[in-house]
Amino acid sequence: MTQQGHERQLQSKEESMDFLGIDRVVFGATDLVKANEFFTQWGLVRKSKTSKALMFETGNGNQVMVKRSDDKSLPPKMADHQEFREVIYGLAKQSDFDHIHQNLSADRCVEVDDEGIMHTVDDSGIPIGFRWVREKPRARPSDTLWNSPAHKKRVDVVSSVYTQAHPFKMGHIVFFVPDTQVAENFYRQRLGFWLSDRYVGGAGVFLRWAKKSEHHNLFFVKSRTSGLALHHIAFEVDSIHEVLGGGLAFSQKGFPTEVGPGRHPISSAYFWYFKNPLGGAVEYFCDADFVTEKWKPHHYRVNRFSEWHLNNGIELKDDGKLRPSLKGAREIEQQKKNEMAAPMKATK
Ligand SMILES: [Fe+2]
Repeated sequence: MTQQGHERQLQSKEESMDFLGIDRVVFGATDLVKANEFFTQWGLVRKSKTSKALMFETGNGNQVMVKRSDDKSLPPKMADHQEFREVIYGLAKQSDFDHIHQNLSADRCVEVDDEGIMHTVDDSGIPIGFRWVREKPRARPSDTLWNSPAHKKRVDVVSSVYTQAHPFKMGHIVFFVPDTQVAENFYRQRLGFWLSDRYVGGAGVFLRWAKKSEHHNLFFVKSRTSGLALHHIAFEVDSIHEVLGGGLAFSQKGFPTEVGPGRHPISSAYFWYFKNPLGGAVEYFCDADFVTEKWKPHHYRVNRFSEWHLNNGIELKDDGKLRPSLKGAREIEQQKKNEMAAPMKATK
């Protein structure tokens, strides 16, 4: 059988599966205060906070759960040096949930908890789960309007200014695995994922959960140490303006950049990665390619990480001078208000 024929056969088995996205990512933490600060400043909405656990949401309701690392209900660490515990995928149909349950129960332990979440482990050893999401997916309330030489979409309206990112959803998750072929086979054969692109020789494989989807929802990178690890979780924002404005704000609050900002030639997305204190990185991204069954996977030989990127964020010089930026202008405005208020107070 040709390679193409083989790939088509793998894709045909489960291709009607209706994945809604990454429904939840679960972490442990030895310092919940620090974790709370990190994900709040990242721009997630905190839905609950106790002395034992935190729950955050993106704009569309994807969740980041953080529990005390000694919490007995947490799955064990996947990698010793990280606090990543599990990724849960959302499903639109109960029949898909039931199908996956039956299928995976044939050769591994599968458990359903009180919340109705199915927990198991994939063939690489990554703790995964599935949940039938009953609520309708939330829509993005507004969109970025662009003007180009040929198209004027934004008329009589000033474009948005971002002083904080508000991620709309978790778009993809990336892992280091010992064998990318093992990972690819599991997701394509057992869950109906589609191949988008690959690096030859098993160096990396980009997968998506539907034939019509963002370029990748899962990316596996061959581990240099043969170990498993979380590489990063990607949060989608509206536009390059939000990547840069939000990234800059996060950076100014003291959170270190992993790499970025920049742009990937694979998927065409703009990115900015930051170090996650609980393991791996978190990424703001936007403007990723959307592909269909007409997409032809590439087999890349040379690393194509970036079209361009800044290595270590945008360094901000603090020489006491105000820059001609919106931030600078606001500081001048505030200074003037303070000066005007001061004599009034003095005369009272
Ligand atoms: Fe990414």
